[in-house]
Amino acid sequence: MARSPNLSRRGFIMSVMTFAGSIMGIVVGLPVIGFLISPALNVTKSDAWVPVGKLDSYPVGVPTPFSFTRTKVNGWEKTVNSISVFVLRDATDKVRVFSSVCTHLGCRVTFHKDSNEFICPCHDAHFNKDGGVVSGPPPRPLDQYESKVENGALLIHVIQS
Ligand code: FES
Repeated sequence: MARSPNLSRRGFIMSVMTFAGSIMGIVVGLPVIGFLISPALNVTKSDAWVPVGKLDSYPVGVPTPFSFTRTKVNGWEKTVNSISVFVLRDATDKVRVFSSVCTHLGCRVTFHKDSNEFICPCHDAHFNKDGGVVSGPPPRPLDQYESKVENGALLIHVIQS
């Protein structure tokens, strides 16, 4: 029987032990690595239909504020966002839902019944009741949320980046 001149018994056993140790390391290590990085792969869904109350609870013709929070989990990072909207319902129950975020630099607008306008306090921007820019630096009208009514409840489509 011919023997390999370069591989001694001790070398062969060391090679087998190294190989077996590597396999055992992988078998034990992969689940541990998976456990450690799994939160980073756990990203919550970034869009949802959020209920904002009964449609009947909103007065006709007056933008009415509604606020809620949304929690987003992105890996180990957990973020709670406060979202404010204005719901404008007309006499035919057609609904428009405006973001309260000014389209200039992101300050919050408020609705003023006396002037019938949304006003942003940061740079004195004015938006009409339909969200259009009346004056000031905003480059576009107030953003709107998609909405729908189900069983009398108003829902808005919130997309979080
Ligand atoms: S942020 Fe609203 S006008 Fe500048």
